[in-house]
Amino acid sequence: MEDNAILDRLEEIRDFVNANLETLIEEKIAFYGEVANVAGQVVLAGGKRIRPILIILAYELAGGENIDEIIPLALSSELIHSASLVHDDINDESLTRRGKETIHATMGQAKAIIAGDWLFTQGFGLGGRYAEDVVDVMAHYCSQLASAEFTQIDHVLDLSTSPEDYLEIVKGKTAGPFAAGCKGSALIAKATEHQCAQLLEFGTELGIAFQLVDDLLDILGDDRMGKTRGADIFEGKMTLPLIHALTLLHGQERIRLAEIITNFDDSLFDELISLLRSAESLIYSEILIKNHLERALGYLDGFAECDAKQLLKHVVTMVHNRHS
Ligand code: IPE
Ligand code: IPE
Ligand code: MG
Ligand code: MG
Ligand code: MG
Repeated sequence: MEDNAILDRLEEIRDFVNANLETLIEEKIAFYGEVANVAGQVVLAGGKRIRPILIILAYELAGGENIDEIIPLALSSELIHSASLVHDDINDESLTRRGKETIHATMGQAKAIIAGDWLFTQGFGLGGRYAEDVVDVMAHYCSQLASAEFTQIDHVLDLSTSPEDYLEIVKGKTAGPFAAGCKGSALIAKATEHQCAQLLEFGTELGIAFQLVDDLLDILGDDRMGKTRGADIFEGKMTLPLIHALTLLHGQERIRLAEIITNFDDSLFDELISLLRSAESLIYSEILIKNHLERALGYLDGFAECDAKQLLKHVVTMVHNRHS
């Protein structure tokens, strides 16, 4: 496929996912009223739709030929993801999501919790219609998201957090759901055990890189993000660049970094970034992102050349270059 054809096809899949989500939310509003409307607005506010796109492509790569068979899982992943974002924004005290004000900011925490719960139940309803092995994979990784978020809270402002602690959190909260989607799709496509395992690993590596990029974006900021810059630092979240710099810096620089992390405010972005540059922590994160993406690509090697494989490779590049 030519580069343009790849971009067009990805856009087509995204439009297809969006159209399905729009129809679904519209139908649900008729049943559930305001809660569906409020939750639906978050879903329809945009979003890259990377999880449903991965699910559809992994299904095709694994030999699946009936798109109708995979749509509920693709939609389920986006609803569960959106639910986790609604709750995440409460916990992270984030006021903007997908370029819009968050639910808890406009309607209060109680309704935001309920709207998130509603999205979870809708997601489980769609995902729960598959065979037991698929449901097990999805349920397991969603549960691990919760475990990882607990661990992350335990590490807030813990300056001794190690890269291993960080990786465990990232695997649980972000890579797990990516991996589950890819493996779930392979199971539905009746792929071999080996192919299911390869797609699980592909999703894991891609998901780790995805969160590493997210954490870099949080520090560096980008107008296209659609969410508040620095949310992690305000929250005391120990992301990899901070962990790395805390280990590498000594003396006054280390003391100053610890002060900045513990008492962060908007005026400190430049100073923080210059300390992170001094420890080469941003470069370190970038190298790690590359490594995980290369490993992700490696897990596609065993699959025969096809459009879905080319598209998945492009998604890997998109994760690398993303600004939102
Ligand atoms: C945000 O996910 C939460 C993370 C795991 C970093 P996305 O970056 O996929 O957010 P949307 O769906 O595109 O809004
Ligand atoms: C990912 O972490 C959150 C979930 C897995 C729900 P973040 O807290 O970094 O996500 P953003 O940056 O708010 O999207
Ligand atoms: Mg969070
Ligand atoms: Mg957050
Ligand atoms: Mg983030």
